[in-house]
Amino acid sequence: MKPDVRVSSDAHELSVRAAEATVGVINEAVRATGRCSLVLSGGHTPKTLYGLLASQFRERLPWEHVHVFWGDERYVPAGDPQSNYRMAKEALLDHVPCPVTNIHPMPTHFTSADLAARDYEATLRNHFLTDWPRFDLVLLGLGDDGHTASLFPGSPALAERTRWVVAVQQPAVKPPLRLTLTLPAITRAATVFFLVAGSTKTSALHHILAGTSDWHVYPAAGVRPEQGQVIWWVDSDAAAPHTTGATHDEMRSRD
Ligand code: 6PG
Repeated sequence: MKPDVRVSSDAHELSVRAAEATVGVINEAVRATGRCSLVLSGGHTPKTLYGLLASQFRERLPWEHVHVFWGDERYVPAGDPQSNYRMAKEALLDHVPCPVTNIHPMPTHFTSADLAARDYEATLRNHFLTDWPRFDLVLLGLGDDGHTASLFPGSPALAERTRWVVAVQQPAVKPPLRLTLTLPAITRAATVFFLVAGSTKTSALHHILAGTSDWHVYPAAGVRPEQGQVIWWVDSDAAAPHTTGATHDEMRSRD
């Protein structure tokens, strides 16, 4: 099945359109089940979206019914400038009436990152009470190398089939110690939004959207929900034709 790619002129337009769609997904989940499980991404790209959800879209969301989780976290204190929790708190959560009991950051205070991963998995199991998490909406970014969350090329975490959350050591990035949802935990989501902006993402994006890439090389290619939808919100820089031979058709906006 061809990927659902929505091309916008720039990162701001991408964020506005993704925010509009986020409002729709969250409201539908709350209408259907009384709550929504939303997974936030780290990195830079989602910041604009978070700011929009905290401002022009704020009143359109049933915050009291939204539960917030993270797809990954750098293993640093919550107040560290590198923390994904801190970024989301400053850009979004400090500005919306989401109950503190609905906000579930990945813990980074354990002496062992593996214990922290197991603790977060227990938090998720307690929330879902099912054999796998079924997040209503997972927001993800894409690294220049095709990583997503903290699932990096060649990582042993890519082979994980039973745990929902694992600790990863990635020497090539700062900080190297991370927590991440695993592919099976992400893949059971009802909806996944990738937010991809900038020409540094073009190569990885084209390889992934071509549908033939090995997800050990491009981990984001491993996000293939059997019963969910994936929408790629990309800007024109990331979607630009690439020399891999992938045609621009694969990038053609669907709406
Ligand atoms: C993180 C993210 C990571 C990010 C990508 C893209 O903790 O940094 O989870 O996977 O989404 O690296 O980052 P940008 O949006 O900053 O390009």
